[in-house]
Amino acid sequence: MQEKLREIQKNAKKQLENVKNQEELEKLRIELFSKKGALTAIMREMGAVAPEDRPKMGALANTVREELEGEFAQIKQKLNATAQEAKIIAEKIDVTMPGARRPLGKIHPLKQVERELCDIFLAMGFTVVSGPEVERDYYNFTALNIPENHPARDDHDTFYITDEILLRTQTSPVQIRVMEQKKLPIRIIAPGRVYRSDAVDATHSPIFHQIEGLVVDRGITMGNLKGCLEEFIRQLYGEDVKTRFRPHHFQFTEPSAEMDIACPKCEGKGCSVCKGEGWIEILGAGMVHRDVLLRCDINPDEYSGFAFGLGLERIAMRRFRINDLRLFHENDVRFLHQF
Ligand code: DAH
Repeated sequence: MQEKLREIQKNAKKQLENVKNQEELEKLRIELFSKKGALTAIMREMGAVAPEDRPKMGALANTVREELEGEFAQIKQKLNATAQEAKIIAEKIDVTMPGARRPLGKIHPLKQVERELCDIFLAMGFTVVSGPEVERDYYNFTALNIPENHPARDDHDTFYITDEILLRTQTSPVQIRVMEQKKLPIRIIAPGRVYRSDAVDATHSPIFHQIEGLVVDRGITMGNLKGCLEEFIRQLYGEDVKTRFRPHHFQFTEPSAEMDIACPKCEGKGCSVCKGEGWIEILGAGMVHRDVLLRCDINPDEYSGFAFGLGLERIAMRRFRINDLRLFHENDVRFLHQF
């Protein structure tokens, strides 16, 4: 038995020296120490040993077992350390290597133009405000002198959500919301999206953008309106561009006008850019209607104001020579990166 024990110990030591990884070690552990293992088997033979030799044999068997267990633990630790080291080497990263580039986006051409226009008005002392795109019928129409059943509503092809709630067809309702707050004097612009149920083509889109302007103070005149808007056009298109005001009709301004610029290509003679007109319409404007002021609880005998509204898409299309409105909404980065 003694020889057998020594034999097991010698073999185990030899095998342990050659163990390369945790799996091999585990296999060896089972071969030795498990219920069917060599050391367990030999302990069962203890019954065959003469009773006087048993204590000695038992002690020897325990020593062998303990020694082997100690060696197992040591090898296990060594293997663990090697595995850890290998893992660190495998996961090593070179922090000096260039990273993966994220493609940079660009500011959308409509947003670029909106910012440019806002900057011009900001420099004149205007404040930028915004209003809801989902709007009440009252603000979009009624408060702007367009009562129910008024034919002017037909021009707007409105998206209704309920009888009372709609997608705003113009930024003009922001005028009412600002005047209702009655923090006078008022000098605001309100850029934003507007909606009309138009079929999509090169010049029509159910979503487009406007910038609204409103000034209310004591003694505001048509002269202020013209001066302000002419200065705006000079900043946008240069000192020399010719402008004209044409009488027009809007429900919420009286008098009302449209402002044109002389066609920059033909300078008024008429060409394909201005469709033979010689002039290009830029915006609608007028003096805020008395009834609109009254509805907002502003005394029209004490205060007066002017308002204007312009479409962003047309300005951006001319600026960037874009001939199809649909391109703005297609989100094709190849298109967007040109501007
Ligand atoms: N809201 C008008 C439209 O969408 C544009 C407009 C005209 C706005 C005259 C104004 C204004 O503030 O005074 O057609």
